[in-house]
Amino acid sequence: MTNRFVKLSSGYQMPLVGFGTYTIKGKDLIQEVIDESLRVGFRSIDTAERYGNEEDIGEALKVLLPKYNLKREDIFVTTKLSPLSIGSPEKVSNAINKSLTALGLTYLDLYLIHWPGASSVPESSEENIKLRNQTWKVLADFQKRGLIRSIGVSNYLIRHLEELLQNDYGVRPAVNQVECHPRYRQEELKKFCDKENIHLQAYSSLGTSKTAELLQDPTVTSIAKEYNVSPARLLLRWALQQDIGIIPKASKKEHIRDNINLDFDISEDHMQQLSKLPEKKYTWDPIRVV
Ligand SMILES: NC(=O)c1ccc[n+]([C@@H]2O[C@H](COP(=O)([O-])OP(=O)(O)OC[C@H]3O[C@@H](n4cnc5c(N)ncnc54)[C@H](OP(=O)(O)O)[C@@H]3O)[C@@H](O)[C@H]2O)c1
Repeated sequence: MTNRFVKLSSGYQMPLVGFGTYTIKGKDLIQEVIDESLRVGFRSIDTAERYGNEEDIGEALKVLLPKYNLKREDIFVTTKLSPLSIGSPEKVSNAINKSLTALGLTYLDLYLIHWPGASSVPESSEENIKLRNQTWKVLADFQKRGLIRSIGVSNYLIRHLEELLQNDYGVRPAVNQVECHPRYRQEELKKFCDKENIHLQAYSSLGTSKTAELLQDPTVTSIAKEYNVSPARLLLRWALQQDIGIIPKASKKEHIRDNINLDFDISEDHMQQLSKLPEKKYTWDPIRVV
């Protein structure tokens, strides 16, 4: 079982391996997957206002934390502000309070701005700059009040981060959660984040739920065979070996069990082979968001 932590700039520790929940919906399924994930050792859960499953996760935690003899502080919960909720400070505050209530928590471990743009304005609009800035001020305020332990962003490019760092209201972003895997390696962004002490956390490490293309890539499958591990484990280890956090999503129990077994080493030669795969992005691209 992989049990590594990263110390965030906020001073709090975050497990490097978390459980992703995008597209996992419905009370029974959520209960089942959270049960299995806690049983095998996941201690971090990634959700979002946009996923529509915060309430079911909250209900599951009420039952499952006592089942596994866990206290609130033993788990790490991340959620995110929807692009639909970016707007006035009141709108942002309401969204955070709604997430806290839905999850049944008195504090969030990590809260991210899901996307650098607001749904209410075009991606090309300069209004996004103003809205991001005033949103960060609200998040910083919630952190100072102890309702959120660490705040961060998601899908931010270097220019979005540079802008935030210039006007951070005294709280630096602890995390930038972005698509990252051997076909979308984020090398420049990783260097920038390392320099600024922002933890880079990968999403869609397995290439999303929409396609198995990455899991079936011939280079990935043949290297995985050499270590006698599944392609999924190889892809997850590829990130961990670079101190990139991961949040694989799985609804099948055998997948959940597989994804926590990451204590092996990929050789430098194999890491380089993986880093030569042709580029492919599987999810939304923030490139046009001003
Ligand atoms: N911030 C953002 O904008 C953003 C965007 C996307 C995702 N995320 C977060 O990142 C998480 C992960 O990304 P993702 O949901 O795009 O998908 P992912 O983790 O890249 O892949 C999920 C897919 O891989 C399959 N899988 C999982 N473990 C496997 C294994 N051991 N062997 C074979 N197949 C396996 C799953 O199957 P089954 O479900 O059938 O088990 C599912 O089809 C999300 O759930 C979400 O929490 C964030």
